[in-house]
Amino acid sequence: MGDLDPTYLQAPEHISAPNVLPNQPEEVSVIDLSRLEDPEDVQNVISEIGEACEKWGFFQVINHGVPCDTRERLEKTAKKFFELPMEEKVKVKRDEESPAGYHDGEHTISVKDWKEVFDSFLKDPTVIPSSTDLEDDGLSLLYNKWPQFPSDLREASEEYARHVDKLAFKLLELISLSLGLPKESFHDFFKEQMSFLRINRYPPCPRPDLALGIGPHKDITVLTILAQDEVGGLQVSRRSDGVWFPVKPVPNALVINMGNCFEIWTNDKYWSAEHRVVVNTTKERYSIPFFLFPSHDVEVKPLEELVSPENPPRYKGYNWGKFFASRLRSMYQKLDTHTIQV
Ligand code: SIN
Ligand code: FE2
Repeated sequence: MGDLDPTYLQAPEHISAPNVLPNQPEEVSVIDLSRLEDPEDVQNVISEIGEACEKWGFFQVINHGVPCDTRERLEKTAKKFFELPMEEKVKVKRDEESPAGYHDGEHTISVKDWKEVFDSFLKDPTVIPSSTDLEDDGLSLLYNKWPQFPSDLREASEEYARHVDKLAFKLLELISLSLGLPKESFHDFFKEQMSFLRINRYPPCPRPDLALGIGPHKDITVLTILAQDEVGGLQVSRRSDGVWFPVKPVPNALVINMGNCFEIWTNDKYWSAEHRVVVNTTKERYSIPFFLFPSHDVEVKPLEELVSPENPPRYKGYNWGKFFASRLRSMYQKLDTHTIQV
């Protein structure tokens, strides 16, 4: 087992090499959103998004409206934070009072991930206490922790999040249209919601054959919008056969993936894909996922418009606020559980 702390040891079936067969041309598609400016191309873009959501649950977008300099500013600022000595980083460590801040003990399905993270809630976290379940759990205390240095991490995160939030709502409309629904059909699910921005740093790992940056998981979100650097390591399991494929870094692209809410809303038409992150011996890797959640009062269940006697609902549904509160509660209590991934 070499020099690896056993808490990082993955089950061999979780770490199997990407089983990609030679000469497989298939890749997660890259969709240029500037094509939406051409009225003749809009329908093609919508169809391509629908196809990607169905087949992979993943796609990438370019010309998405999130300015490069806003993203670069956040990447640079985040790097400065992670380069600080541990005694500085732990000053904003996740603790009993709030699951936001710095953490280096994330686990996915009980195995430790080879990474460190910095988390912040987006929008005003005070919207949360409107859910009595959360209040009962004392979670009205949720607040962000920002480091003194780099002093602009908060501003850089908030500026980036504002742009990504806009993109998220644009994508919701396009996805809605791809399902044959009016473009506003999801708006009511986001009246009083909160999202989450995570910055991941994956350090070089002496045993990438034994550990993973993140073990295989699905996101509990509505959708996730991820900025990844040029190093690579994200892999997605293809819906049709479970073969692992790399999600290749494309300059300035953002990776979009469907979360479990979409899978349930569409009664399995769209797919929340399993994904994982492999690490390497020489290069650190950064990624910045933005996790979009619905409002706390939303019942996550198949949409009436998408079920029929021939396609009956496959899920009973659950209340998002209660579910999210239980996720936060376990983060609160154990301080080592993934809130965002299953
Ligand atoms: C990644 O770092 O590429 C994926 C992050 C995640 O699944 O949360
Ligand atoms: Fe994920």
